[in-house]
Order: sequence, then C-alpha cells, then structure tokens
Amino acid sequence: MSILFDQNTKSFHLSNSRVSYIFRLAGGMYPMHVHWGRRVRAVNDELLTRRTIWTEETFSLNETSLDFLPMECPTFAGDLREGMIHVIHENGMSALLLEYESHQVISGKPELAGLPSARGEDAQSLLLTLRDKVSGVAVELCYTVYEDVDVIARSARIINDGKTPVTVDKALSACVDFEGCDYNLTTLSGAWVRERQLYTRPLVPGDQGTSSTRGASSVQTSPFMMLTSKDATEQTGEAFGFALCYSGGFEASVHVDQHFISRAQIGIQPFNFSWRLLPGESFQTPEAYLCYSCEGIGGMSRNFHALVHRHITTGKYAHSTRPILINNWEATYFDFNEEKLLKLARVARRAGIDLFVLDDGWFGHRDAANSSLGDWYDDKNKLPGGLAGLSEKIHKLGLMFGLWIEPEMISVDSDLYRQHPEWCIHVPGYPRIEYRDQLVLDLSRDEVRDYVVDAIIAALRRGRVDYVKWDMNRFINMWGSTNLPASRQQELGHRYILGVYDMMRRITGAFPNVLFESCAGGGGRFDLGMMCFMPQAWCTDDTDAWMRCRIQHSTSLVFPPSTMGAHVSAVPNHQTGRTAPLATRAAVAMSGTYGYELDLTKLPRKEIEEIRVLNKRLREIQTVLLYGTYYRLLSPYEGNEAAWMSVTKDKREAVVTHVYAQAVPNMKDKLLRLTGLDPTLTYRDDVTGKTYGGDELMYYGIILHKPWGDYMSQQWHLVAID
Ligand code: DGJ
Repeated sequence: MSILFDQNTKSFHLSNSRVSYIFRLAGGMYPMHVHWGRRVRAVNDELLTRRTIWTEETFSLNETSLDFLPMECPTFAGDLREGMIHVIHENGMSALLLEYESHQVISGKPELAGLPSARGEDAQSLLLTLRDKVSGVAVELCYTVYEDVDVIARSARIINDGKTPVTVDKALSACVDFEGCDYNLTTLSGAWVRERQLYTRPLVPGDQGTSSTRGASSVQTSPFMMLTSKDATEQTGEAFGFALCYSGGFEASVHVDQHFISRAQIGIQPFNFSWRLLPGESFQTPEAYLCYSCEGIGGMSRNFHALVHRHITTGKYAHSTRPILINNWEATYFDFNEEKLLKLARVARRAGIDLFVLDDGWFGHRDAANSSLGDWYDDKNKLPGGLAGLSEKIHKLGLMFGLWIEPEMISVDSDLYRQHPEWCIHVPGYPRIEYRDQLVLDLSRDEVRDYVVDAIIAALRRGRVDYVKWDMNRFINMWGSTNLPASRQQELGHRYILGVYDMMRRITGAFPNVLFESCAGGGGRFDLGMMCFMPQAWCTDDTDAWMRCRIQHSTSLVFPPSTMGAHVSAVPNHQTGRTAPLATRAAVAMSGTYGYELDLTKLPRKEIEEIRVLNKRLREIQTVLLYGTYYRLLSPYEGNEAAWMSVTKDKREAVVTHVYAQAVPNMKDKLLRLTGLDPTLTYRDDVTGKTYGGDELMYYGIILHKPWGDYMSQQWHLVAID
C-alpha cells in the first residue's frame, strides 16, 4: 500500500497490490480524477490533454473549462455540473474556487469529529488542502487506502479561515468522475417490511440515483449505490460500490454530462441542510467508502464485508458468535405480563435458547403504541417486580436478559411531554404531526440528550441487561428546534444525527459487555454509521422466509451476515400470510444473527424438539455462517430460487443454503455449482455423510432435489476430510 506524489506530473497515486486511485492537479492546482480501478504502475493521461487541448504550460482557467474535466472536488466554479461542495458568503453570493495549497501523507487515518468512521489500522491517508484564496475558506480532502481491503475511504472538512461567516449549503463526502457512461447503476429501494429491494438500470445522460429526505437512511432507500461494467456478473467484470457511514438523510447520485462523463457523488442530503461556519470553525462530512472489484459484484461485497469486520464493527461481540435469542414481540405484541413472559422463557430454555429479549411495552403505561415513550420507568402492572424482578427470574432460568428501548422518541401521552412539550422537534404554530402516534425528541439539545442517557442507563442497570435492541420507529418532517437561532435551523437534521451518535457513544460505552442491536421500525437505519456502534441491526420486520431471501441477498451487497438480525417466526407469517416449513425459516435466519420471534408455548412438543436440534446444529456452523467468505450463488430477484454459501478462510469448511420458492409440477432434480472451495480437497457433508471433491462441487455441482411443496430448502455443511 502506498500514496505517492509525482512532482513532474503533479499526480497522486494511492494503491495497494490490487487497486489504484489516481488524480492529478490540472494546471498544478485543480484536482482532476484520472483512474480508479485495477492497479496500474502509472497513467499517461494523453486522453485528457487531447480532449482539452492543454498542457501544463498552456493551462488557463479561461481557456480550459473545468466543465470538461473529471474533477475530484467540484464546486460550481468553472465546472457547471452538480458540485460536491457549495458555500454562500456573508453577502449572499456564492463562489468557491479551490486550488491546491499543500498535502500530507500520514499513517493510519484521522478520526472524524462527532462522527463514526472506519478504523485505520493497516492504512495510509492523504490529507489534501485546497483553498479559495478570495474568501480564505479551505477544504481538506482525506483519502485513505488500506492494504487488506480494496476500499478508498473519503471525507472532506470545510474550514472557514476567512474573516466573515459563511454558510455551507452542500457538503458531500466524495465525487468520482468516470470516463464514459457504459455502466449499470444499482440502488436499493423499498418500504417497511420490503426494505432494500434491488434495482438495476443502465446509466443515461442526465441525473439518476437515490436519496432520503426523511432524516434517516430509511426503509425506503439505502445510502449505497453501485456502478457495474455491462458485462459484470457475481464473479466477473468490474463493480464500483459507494457506501456512506451515516444514518441521516443522504444523496447518492450519478450525473451523466454532455461528454458522457459520469459523475458519481455521495454524502449528506443537501435538501433542508446548511451549516453556518464562523471564522475559525470547520464542518466535517461523514465518511464514504469507495469499493472496487474486478471480480464482479461478489468481489465488491466481499471487500465491503472485510471492511465491516476488520475496520467498522467493534466491541466484545464484533468477532464472536452471538447468543440465540427469543424475542417476545411477535409472540405477544403489547399484551403480556410477567407470568406470560416467564412461561415463554421456560420453553425457550428447554429449546436451547440463550437470551430472552423483552420488546416494546414494559414501561410507563404502554399497552399500545400511543403512549409512554420518554417515561423509562417500569410498568408495575405488567411487571410487579419491575425490570429487576423479571431479569432476576430470567437469569435464574439460565437465560441472558435483553431489553428493547426507543430513546429518541416521545409520546404526547407521557409525563415527559407534559413536563417538556418544547423538547420535541416541531415548528411553532404548525401541527405536530405524529407518525406511529409519536414525536421525535430534539436531540440537538444537550439537556434532552442528558435526560435520555441517564434514564436509559438507569433502566439498563436496573434490568442487569445482557443485550439491548435500540429501536427508532418514525422518520422526521417539519424540522424545527426552538433551541436554535433562525440562521441555524437548517442544521437540525445533521445535529439530530450527531446527537444520536453522542447518545450511542455514551450508552454503549457504559456497557462494554452488552450486545447492542440497532433497529428502526425494521431496517430503517441499516447503515454503516450504526454498525460503528452496534455490530448487528434488525434487518426488517419481515420474517417471511422467501422475502428474507430477497432482503438478505441485497443487504449482503454491503453487509456481512454477522450484521443482519434474522428470526424464525410463526406460520402463517404475520407479514405475508405464507407458510414455510420450520427448516426453511431456520435455514434462512441462520445466515444472520439468529433468533426466534413467536409464541413457543403454542408449539407442539415435537416442534420444540426440532428447534432444540436446530439450535445445536447452529452452534456448530455459526462461525462459518457469520464470518466466512460469502458467495451469492442464485439470486431470488431473477427466479424461483435463492442460494448462497459461506466458506472459511482456509477453505476447509463451508455451509451452503438453497431455497425454492414455489414448487412447479414435473420438475426434475438438478445441479447447483458451488464456488470458493479448494478443488484439491475432499469434503464430507455433515448432513448426509456423503463425500464430494471440491472440484466436483464447483465444476459439476451438487444435487438439488425437486421440491415437494412451496418454500423447500436444502442446507449442506461441508468439511474437508483430507
Ligand atoms: C419496530 C421493530 O422493528 C419491531 O421489531 C418491534 O420492536 C416494534 N418496533 C416494537 O414497537
């Protein structure tokens, strides 16, 4: 891995043994993108000089429009395409002409003030300072290259070194201008219980992309996009992934210009955003990850997974197996008391489950979604001994105890709201529009965060919890804080997210041995920002096995199975009404952080025994499933089947899962070809006891039995025997 600056060509070359990222200073001043892709020794950028008819000697801003060049940090100065950074001066005018000032190469990478970011072990960073000489405003671009993952991390810091305040109106994290537009664009869109569905289309001239204006990464969209060469498959072709380490509103866009340069950008949502910078102050953008692979879409995902495992997730559970849990939500919803919970816990214990999670409804007088958020004291009607009493009984059964919280919200029917109606986000004079019967706390206020942090820490201590599910069940509109001056109201969206991160830092920091899972009305904040605090997130409220195949398939573009909360639930499924066999529900959920979410007390003894056997089996294969190298084999977006597999680093062990959706009459057995194994090894399938050559499994295949009934699955656990 290295970062080199060539004084002659004024070019920067960031590389590891597989990937190069190159840009140069046009006219010695303006950072111009040259190459991001497979490693090259150097680039003779004749193409650019031919197109623009300039040489270093003849370069002049008047003669050479930046509008024709691929730029690294466009600012709408000579370049009339969408900029990455936009600044408004005190006189209301906007201009920012950024020119090279200095650069520095450091080992590791700097932390980003107030924001989560990847760690920088085994990395080098380039800090490139550009300055607008007229206003004094500087932009420091940070580029990090890793040896062990093919990811370039990028962020920007905008510094007001001038004499008057400026307003930052747009502050994206990264921009890459691709030569040509011969790419497909993939983004993820969906809805509640239908998150992160895969959409791919060819790039066309003009604007395209995805974004969220909901104050969160959201269930509707995801802070991710991918450009792929037209020939790309799971195993072959080029894939360029962009992902943002941020949980608020975002934009990920591609603009194809008049000369078919494709400008890909990602960062904070510019709508409803601005940040006032007084002289001496700076604004830090979130971090973006640019992930390249010439081994297809699968190669890109494996790089993202390695980034998450090695540089993002942290804490006691980040690299270990996770407890098998039972969550009472779909078992009881709000209708529970201590007796009912303990009955469930006892059966769970018999079934070999490790952790009992008490979901929503344990506090205030919350018998429905319309009350008590903010009142984090125990409902003694439901839990006569409070959290402490219940937790003690659960622990005595030999189970760990987990708790649901939703710290960012407030119910109108709560003591907290009666005392502090001004603590919610609202615009005075306008109705306080509730979603899911709740309002959002104004987390830009220190006193609000302090109250919540104290109340939650007290509840978690009281309950001696081993696990926390941190939920967030509505998005935000009508942005207003009675605590901020008019000139700073547009900062609220970002201040809210900084507030969330501050609370997460304090609360997770107070409980280093507790497993935290983030959640947002299902998978509404499934993003890398959350993963920096909590190693797993509830993937979606959809527990239907076939929908899960789709959602987990597309989530795995960026996220490894160790991050995806996945539960076996009752049939008919509560979201789709479908009935899938227990074995299939389990096989699908096992490729995530595994648990159950159904009333076990209603299941026949035989099924509890089946669950006990499944749990025993999971314990044998969980490490491979969560941390193995992941391969998508068949896409549920392309047909009636889904298949995927995980392989250990030494290739001596693998778990393969295949699911059929509908059974079709007159089907025949057929073959599934595996990948990522060692062709010279012989593997034994633990399930059937049969042996196969690695070459046979990869180049011939393994037999898929024709399904009898819908949603049938097969799972193999292959272990090398020689
Ligand atoms: C939304 C979550 O996704 C569910 O799992 C559950 O915790 C409910 N909230 C509780 O209100």
